[in-house]
Amino acid sequence: MATPEATAMIGAAQLNQDTVGLEIASPGDGGFDMNWWPVALSGEVGPEQIIDRHFLGGDVVIWRTASGLAQVSTAYCAHLGAHLGEGRVVGETIECAFHNWCFGQDGNCRYIPAPHDHIPASAKIFGYPTAEKWGIIWAFNGDVPSYEVPSPPFVNADSYDILADHAGGSDIAPFYAPISNIFDLQHFEFVHRFPGAVLSPDNLPDRPELDIGPHHMAYRQTMGGGVFGHLKVWGTNGLTATYIDEETRVITEIFVFATAPRPNGTGFDAYQVLFRRKKNDSPEDRAKGRAQLEKAWAAQLYVASQDDVVLRRPHFRMRNFTKADRWLKQFIEYVRDYPRADPGGSFQ
Ligand code: FES
Ligand SMILES: [Fe+2]
Repeated sequence: MATPEATAMIGAAQLNQDTVGLEIASPGDGGFDMNWWPVALSGEVGPEQIIDRHFLGGDVVIWRTASGLAQVSTAYCAHLGAHLGEGRVVGETIECAFHNWCFGQDGNCRYIPAPHDHIPASAKIFGYPTAEKWGIIWAFNGDVPSYEVPSPPFVNADSYDILADHAGGSDIAPFYAPISNIFDLQHFEFVHRFPGAVLSPDNLPDRPELDIGPHHMAYRQTMGGGVFGHLKVWGTNGLTATYIDEETRVITEIFVFATAPRPNGTGFDAYQVLFRRKKNDSPEDRAKGRAQLEKAWAAQLYVASQDDVVLRRPHFRMRNFTKADRWLKQFIEYVRDYPRADPGGSFQ
């Protein structure tokens, strides 16, 4: 039989379905979202170098094998737990500084130098599925990736110059807050002064529906102001955007944006990649491209500074959605229900 307290709670839940139904667990509670998370810029990990970072509630090493492959692995040696950040790269393995056990990219111990010794079956660290794309090293939080690293459509990497860098963050706002922005159509007008009427899913010209899959949410839509946008969220932390001039059909802007939670689980760090189509392979064009990308980066920073005003110190809550917030609510529900895991947790 339900206790009076339980009855009262059920009553509150029924009265406040939006409030109670849209609570999102904090990162680490039940694991972390099974995303491709950005962990470092490619340029931060040199040839055969090891750096260490805090990642999803634990410590990892990010290292580059002799053949140049980047790898994100849990940081503590499977033997007596020395931090592998004190070790070195040996061929395609990372070697512990303490007794020189060597671990491969898959996390398995490959070599124990002590004579007549054998490798215990459980001598493993966790090797996150790791990818290097768009100048960023990404780690997938799971045993096997369930989707691709965020990649803008229509982009053949060889035809573009890119600029990838850290792009600020917040001490307070959750990692999905800046991603939720693209479904918060009204803020395009109120925060960014996007020209045109107040945007909501209901007054967009042809009332598009969201494309929602297990690991993405996307829409393609005339945004007003002569701009057509193709925006897609990958997992719960990645975003690709392509903007096209409606009149000329020329792509005016492409970017990749991704966030990761800060060490204590609150706030986030952001990474961003901008793209510029190459004209040719000459040094002149490369220099011109670099200048254009830096200018575009400054423009993006300006847009981000507008968001920063509202993301700097919110008590982020998901309640009192109106009809115009329909897409935003769908995104919050998607984040709430997104699968979580912590495959590296038991190796800490
Ligand atoms: S602690 Fe790493 S080899 Fe012993
Ligand atoms: Fe914004």
